[in-house]
Formats: sequence, C-alpha cells, structure tokens
Amino acid sequence: MLELDQLVMDFSGFKAVNGCTFRVEEGSITGLIGPNGAGKTTLFNLIAGALQPTSGTIRFLGEDVTPLASHQLFHKGLVRTFQIPHEFHKLTALENLMMVPPAQPGESLLSNWFSWGRVKSTEVDVEKKAYETLEFLELTHIAHQRAGNLSGGQKKLLELGRTMMTSAKLVLLDEPAAGVNRTLLRKLESKIELLNKERGYTFILIEHDMEMIEKLCDPVVCMAEGKVLIQGDFQTVRSNPQVLEAYLGETTGDAA
Ligand SMILES: Nc1ncnc2c1ncn2[C@@H]1O[C@H](COP(=O)(O)OP(=O)(O)OP(=O)(O)O)[C@@H](O)[C@H]1O
Ligand SMILES: [Mg+2]
Repeated sequence: MLELDQLVMDFSGFKAVNGCTFRVEEGSITGLIGPNGAGKTTLFNLIAGALQPTSGTIRFLGEDVTPLASHQLFHKGLVRTFQIPHEFHKLTALENLMMVPPAQPGESLLSNWFSWGRVKSTEVDVEKKAYETLEFLELTHIAHQRAGNLSGGQKKLLELGRTMMTSAKLVLLDEPAAGVNRTLLRKLESKIELLNKERGYTFILIEHDMEMIEKLCDPVVCMAEGKVLIQGDFQTVRSNPQVLEAYLGETTGDAA
C-alpha cells in the first residue's frame, strides 16, 4: 500500500530522516518505534505531505505521491493524527468532527447562494456521521462540550474520530496513547483494532507504549537516528541487540 524508498529529510545539514526504506502492507497495523528523536514524526510529516523530502520517493497505492501536499493526499485517503492534538478548542467535540470533511458544498459562497437545499442536506449528513463517530468512540456524552475542556485521552479519541469522518484508507497515528489514562487507553486500542478489522483501515502507529505495540502491531519497524534498524514481529524486534542499544542510549529509556 505504501512504499518508502531511501527517504531523506535534511534540516540544514542535520538528517532527521536518513535513508528510510520500508513497505506497509494493506490491512496491517504497522508499528513504528524508536527512541526520542529517532525521526518518527518527521517521517510521518514526509508521508503525509507536510514536508517535502530532500530525496527519496513515496509510493501510495502504486502511485508516486512524493511531490503531493497534505490536502492532495487527504483526498486520496491518507490521513494523519498529531502527536499533540490539533483540536479547535472553542468548538464542541461534535463541531470539531463536522469541520473535517473536505470540500463541503457549504464552503463555497456561490453554492450557498444557488443550492441552499443541497448544502442543508449535506450538513445534516455530516452531523449524522459526526454523531455516529462519537457513538462508535463512546463519546456521545461530551458531544456538546468544548474540545478545549476535554481530557487528554478524550482529545486523542477525538483525533481518531477526525480520521473516521473521511474516507481514510491509510491512517498515521502519532503517539495516540501519550497522556491517556489506562481505561481510555484500552478503549483506544479496541477502537483501533475494530477500525482495522471491520472497516479495513490500514494504520501506521508511532508509540512508546510497548504494550500497545505488542497488542496491535505486526510488523514493527524500529528507527534510530533517521534509519530503519530492523523490521519484524514484536518479539524479534524487541530482542534485537541493536534495538536495545538504541533505547539504552537515550535518556528517558521509557520503552526499553
Ligand atoms: N523542523 C526541524 N528542524 C530541525 N530539526 C528538526 C526539525 N524537526 C525535527 N527535527 C529534529 O529531528 C530529529 C527527529 O525528530 P522527530 O520529532 O522526528 O523525532 P521522533 O522520533 O518523533 O521523537 P519523539 O519520540 O520524541 O516524538 C530530532 O533531533 C529533532 O530535533
Ligand atoms: Mg515524535
């Protein structure tokens, strides 16, 4: 589904991503792990079109998408969430979800003027979908709360909800478990699993929570210093001496 070939991201001489090559199979939940500063988020920024790679190529569903920008990839079904949630904090949870679908007819002044009926019916559809999404995430009780007042975990669930408002095929999740309490964490895991198994979403999941990686991900790709160290099943990656060394070399050591 996704093929990365020798991707490099050079920030004025510092290569945050330094020759990354791997594939993501359709239907998988591919884990992306590695110590702090390994280049995982930068790699997501490249895949999602937020950054242009210095060199290398990205193929998505057989097409070279290297030069495409985020909104173009979004329309092709490649969607990402952020390590720090990007909610509109003054809008309610429901409104946040309703903001997501691109190219709503209501966005254009002309179509507002000429086809009010169509705009209204799309709005009703979007609201229905937003409610269904909140139901799926068991968040209906916070539908009308301002997103800025939600807990860290609820914001993370809402981020996942935003991807469900689109026709996503490949979803990039950047540390969905960070700051989420244990109860919400289990819920988040089961929702990701459901979306994968029942709705056919493919995921790439960056996470420092190794329990979550073990539970959900196969294969697991481990990055260090901008490169892929190893790819394989969780146990193979976990017991690899280079992986252990990469984690021991960092100060937090939260995943070793
Ligand atoms: N825009 C930028 N300009 C310069 N350096 C950057 C930029 N973005 C990231 N970096 C550097 O690139 C390296 C990789 O950062 P990145 O955020 O991709 O790591 P990460 O693997 O996501 O880490 P973490 O697990 O802490 O989130 C870091 O040393 C970071 O400081
Ligand atoms: Mg990161």
